[in-house]
Amino acid sequence: MRAYDIIKKKRDGQKLNKEEIYFLVNGFVKGEIADYQMSAFLMAVYFQGLSDEETAYLTFAVRDSGEKFTASKIHGIKADKHSTGGVGDKTSLVVMPIVASLGVKVAKMSGRGLGHTGGTVDKLESIPNFKVDLSHEEFIDAVNNIGIAIIGQTKNLAPADKLLYALRDVTATVDSIPLICSSIMGKKLTADDDVIVLDVKVGSGAFMKDIVSAKNLATLMVETGKSAGKKTVALLTDMSQPLGYTIGNALEVYEAIETLNGKGEKDFEELCLVLSANILSLSGYGDYSKCYKMARETIKNKTAYNKFIEFVKMQGGDLSNFNSIEDIIKDSIVKEVRSLTSGYIQEINAEEYGLASLALGAGRNQLGDKIDYSAGIILKAKIGDKVEKGQVLALTVSRNATAHDIAKEKILFNTVIGEEKSKAIKLIKETVR
Ligand code: URA
Repeated sequence: MRAYDIIKKKRDGQKLNKEEIYFLVNGFVKGEIADYQMSAFLMAVYFQGLSDEETAYLTFAVRDSGEKFTASKIHGIKADKHSTGGVGDKTSLVVMPIVASLGVKVAKMSGRGLGHTGGTVDKLESIPNFKVDLSHEEFIDAVNNIGIAIIGQTKNLAPADKLLYALRDVTATVDSIPLICSSIMGKKLTADDDVIVLDVKVGSGAFMKDIVSAKNLATLMVETGKSAGKKTVALLTDMSQPLGYTIGNALEVYEAIETLNGKGEKDFEELCLVLSANILSLSGYGDYSKCYKMARETIKNKTAYNKFIEFVKMQGGDLSNFNSIEDIIKDSIVKEVRSLTSGYIQEINAEEYGLASLALGAGRNQLGDKIDYSAGIILKAKIGDKVEKGQVLALTVSRNATAHDIAKEKILFNTVIGEEKSKAIKLIKETVR
């Protein structure tokens, strides 16, 4: 078999078989296939696409390129929720304790944030002493004992994805739906969960800016998950404005705790309940409406909140500074961003708000950059709200005195205020089964 022939076949729009795809991916990881040949292959895929079957083979080749997690040591149904990434997305911190409090096992490997989107691991590390680098045994024991543990992704998890993504990034081949699917699902499937619920974000703060591409990606990911023998569902959800009312690591942990206490923003709580109900239903807890009620009950009776506290303690975290938002921002400079006009908020560019939060110190431009965990944005108004000139739209939080002006400018420039009230935004747009 030669890489040349496989590239030519795809260039000419022909279908590749499993052996050819594995040959290419394994050869590339071993350094036997050069970057220039892999780049040519990626570009051929970009233009010719992949069939569902080819996408599944590419996904499995990515999954099989490194170590696998020994999920068999975990007793019970294992489930995970994965978001394609957005701004202010702290849903995992709420959904995971809800389902774990009802007995579903959550052994989650999460990523760090890069660019305008955040990562669950960074959010958890904003809790003093929280340990995300548990050993394999500690991780399994925590999941078996309390039902939930979250760790960072290990170095050898789907190494093909790291190498392929680095090439895609410099060859303009990131935005190919089969390549995105194989990258996300290739990593996700290494965890060997029984149930996967995908939250595919759509809108200005998401990878997928329009509903048609988001639905195509969601459908392909669901099909790929099913062909790996996993129960998989995807929700298409709105990311045309930040989720909830906070952006930034400790601020988002605080909002997640408020939500688990039944005091969260109602839209955000609803999204968490719908995601949880889908996980529970696929895990065999009954039909969707029964599962939705069960999830809602865990918030009312505080079992989900108690599970969160138990989980944070188990991983060494100290929540004594998370009793109020004032606790979190007390050592930072806090400034107000006031509206320049009166009217209704019609649009918010979520990606630009994410970049404003990054400028405040809440994220990193490059891997290895240091994070200011209490930095970020507290939103005081969202799409559909009526605001008066001079009214506070948002608070910027940062220890860096010079960052506030950059963030303020970004927020003002990326908030459209007009006379007409825009149509209400539907947070959950569709479910793909
Ligand atoms: N997230 C990933 O992990 N991979 C992609 O290709 C796009 C988003």
